[in-house]
Amino acid sequence: MPAYGIVGAQWGDEGKGKVVDFLADDADIVVRYSGGSNAGHTVINEKGEFALHLVPSGIFRPHVDAVIGPGVVVEPEALLDELSDLQEKGVDTSRLFVSDHAHVVMPYHVTLDRLEEEARGSKAIGTTGRGIGPAYVDKVARVGIRFGDLLDEAYLASRLEGVVAQKSRILTKAFDAPPVDFDDLYERALRWGEALRPHIASVEQRILDALARGARVVLEGAQGAMLDLDHGTYPYVTSSSVSIGGACTVLGVPPREIVGIIGVFKAYSTRVGAGPMPTELDDAVGRDIRERAWEYGTTTGRPRRVGWFDGLAARYSATINGFTSAVLTRLDVLDGIDPVKICTAYDADGERTHRFPSSPGQLERATPVWEEMPGWSAPTAGITNVKQLPPEAAAYVRRIEEIIGCPIDLISTGPRRAESIVVRPIILR
Ligand code: GDP
Ligand code: IMO
Ligand code: MG
Repeated sequence: MPAYGIVGAQWGDEGKGKVVDFLADDADIVVRYSGGSNAGHTVINEKGEFALHLVPSGIFRPHVDAVIGPGVVVEPEALLDELSDLQEKGVDTSRLFVSDHAHVVMPYHVTLDRLEEEARGSKAIGTTGRGIGPAYVDKVARVGIRFGDLLDEAYLASRLEGVVAQKSRILTKAFDAPPVDFDDLYERALRWGEALRPHIASVEQRILDALARGARVVLEGAQGAMLDLDHGTYPYVTSSSVSIGGACTVLGVPPREIVGIIGVFKAYSTRVGAGPMPTELDDAVGRDIRERAWEYGTTTGRPRRVGWFDGLAARYSATINGFTSAVLTRLDVLDGIDPVKICTAYDADGERTHRFPSSPGQLERATPVWEEMPGWSAPTAGITNVKQLPPEAAAYVRRIEEIIGCPIDLISTGPRRAESIVVRPIILR
């Protein structure tokens, strides 16, 4: 004991990378538990500016083990590129470990992701095109290849044979695309295994041993709860269990080890890709926020959809994760915007609801009911002391606290590590 979860509370891109980098100083292990290179976690610190897709945001702290857990699906070449990029910038990557049980995102997963999206036409999910959905499908269908398999030539060949034949049938017959070349893929897979051999490890037991020693383990979430396969806005979701329960399932960490569940909320809402977003702003204010905050995807460069803070989605997210505390990021983005708005109810099908609807149709038909609050003209950007917050900004933070039902212990006022207000310490030493 103890473990701390750091979970995206909205539709991703809440600033988890910055928050994990900030809190990792107090951690011994930081482990990514879900998703794959669909994630893009921005970290800006004394080593430079980084967009991490697979490597945990604890990598910059020399005393921290950075672990890619068994629930993450990993594209080997993406990981190798990321590692060499970090090394070029002087970051030590010798303490990066990838679980031997993590599934490999194969080139055919990336191809299928693209082909399936094309086939969806106007109903496309707007995936990141990183092969995430197809890789998780194979995990569940029990035809996935895992990192441990890359180190065992004979076993790999026997597993890959059947899978390649199956994928080739799908690619050629369902999509009229070229089949998979077994020899080429097998050779590449062995090369990935060799290149990553020093990093591939049985990490689950190490994490449990560390917890037994009293080490502090940070569980770094990816995406956001509203993109969770089960609890998000299905079918416009990602293919993994993003919420805190997912961490327990895939890592084998018993729930009672998790003493802190920290939800990362952005001071407004963004979403990349398709799917319902009742508070979306299709106007000058939305465009202004997008440009001033540079709301463009870290992974795909797509413009993010921007909207006001959605209190219903936020409370729902806090409830299913049981957040013990929250972090509010990008407060500075709202500096000078007057008024600011929070959605506190939806009107849908002639009824007013204060709960996030479970029916996707109702969610699509929902129109927001706004609560307006005065904006603040004095800047919050870069503030590090809570007493310096303009009273209107402090009132906005308090209102969000009331809505989500847990204390905001950290407020982020800029992308850099130091641009943070510690209201109360989160990770207990
Ligand atoms: P993640 O996926 O949750 O790690 O978030 P991203 O890195 O995809 O997107 C968050 C963006 O907000 C990045 O560009 C960060 O550098 C930036 N950021 C994080 N916290 C703050 C903040 O408090 N203020 C400002 N202005 N930018 C922030
Ligand atoms: P981080 O960790 C924002 C979205 C995609 C798409 C949907 C499904 O940076 O917050 P996928 O490629 O996962 O099959 O796409 O999920 N998505 C994200 N949106 N941030 C992310 O990660 C995301 N990861 C996936 O845009 O709508
Ligand atoms: Mg991101």
